[in-house]
Amino acid sequence: MKHIIGVIVFIAVITVALGTWLDSINLLPPLASAEGIPIDWLFNLHIQVIAFLFALIMGFMLYSVVVFRRKKDDTGDGAFIHGNAALEIVWTIVPLFVVFYFAYLGVVTLNDITSPSRNELVVEVTGSQWNWRFDYPEYGLSSTELNLPVGRTILLKLTSIDVIHDFWVPEFRVKQDAVPGMVKELRVSPTETGTYKLRCAELCGLDHAYMLADVNVMSPAEYDEWIDQELEEIAKAEAGPALERGQRVAELMGCQDCHTLDGSPGKAPTWLGLYGKEEALTDGSTVLVDDEYIRRSIVDPGAQIVDGFGGTMPARFGDELSEEQIADLIEYIESFSE
Ligand code: CUA
Repeated sequence: MKHIIGVIVFIAVITVALGTWLDSINLLPPLASAEGIPIDWLFNLHIQVIAFLFALIMGFMLYSVVVFRRKKDDTGDGAFIHGNAALEIVWTIVPLFVVFYFAYLGVVTLNDITSPSRNELVVEVTGSQWNWRFDYPEYGLSSTELNLPVGRTILLKLTSIDVIHDFWVPEFRVKQDAVPGMVKELRVSPTETGTYKLRCAELCGLDHAYMLADVNVMSPAEYDEWIDQELEEIAKAEAGPALERGQRVAELMGCQDCHTLDGSPGKAPTWLGLYGKEEALTDGSTVLVDDEYIRRSIVDPGAQIVDGFGGTMPARFGDELSEEQIADLIEYIESFSE
C-alpha cells in the first residue's frame, strides 16, 4: 500500500509539472480565428493527457528502478509473477473509452467549425504551381493577396488547376486541400486584424516551399475601402490603354514568376527584346516571335518550345484568359521589344 500511494503521488507530481511546462512554452502560433478556439482547447486537452500518459509510464518505471533496485549482496532471483487478468482488462477498457470520448469531441468540434453561418463572404481560392489567386465573385474582383474583413465568416471555395495544394494559415488553425477538378469548402472567421502568411501545405513540386501569399485581415471599413479602390482601378484600367490591362493580366497570372522583364535568366524566355526576335526551337527550326506565335504559346504551350527551356508553361491560360486579355497581354509583351 505504501508503494501504491508513493507511485500515485510521484505520477501526479510529474503530470502537473510537465503539463504546466508544456502549457507555458506556447507550442502554437498566435490565434486569429473563431474556429481556432475549440481547436486550441482540444489541442491543449491532448497535451495534458499526453503529459499524464508520459508520467504514468515513466513514473512507474523510475519508481520501480529506484525503490526496488537490488540490495547489496542480494544474489537471489526475483519473485515470479504470471499475468494479471483484472489489470489487463482495466488497461484495455479504460483507454478504449478515452479514445471514444476524444472521437466524440472531434466530431462535435468539426461540426461546430464547418457549419454555415449567416452573411458569409465567398472567396474563390485557386492554387496553381506555384501561386495563389483569390476571386471575389460578389464584386468581380481578383487579387494575388487575400484581404478579409475581421469578424465575418469567410467561405473559401478552394480548387486547383494542376496538382493538389493545401490552404493553410497557421494562425487560423483550419486547413483544407485544393484538389484539381473539385471545389472544397473551408470556413474561417478572422478575429484579429493583422498580416498573416498563407502557406501551401501539400508537397506540390519544385517551388512548394515558396508557394506563399499575404493574408491581410482588416477592419470592415478598411476592407470596404480596399474593395472600392480595386473596383476603381479596374474601371480605370478598362478605360485606359491596352498596355495597362495587359500588365494587370500578367500580374494576376503570375507570368513574371518565370519570364523576367530585364533580360536576366529565368525558367522561361525573358520578355526583354522577345517580340520580333527569331527564336530557335527544340526541333531545330526557328520561329519569328509575333502576335500569332505568342498567342499559340499561351493557348497551346507545348506546341513550339524555345530551345533551352523545359516546357514548364502551364496549359491552363487558354481556358482562363479571354481573347481580349490575350491581346492585351501581347501588347504588354510587345512593349519590351528593343
Ligand atoms: Cu502548392 Cu505545395
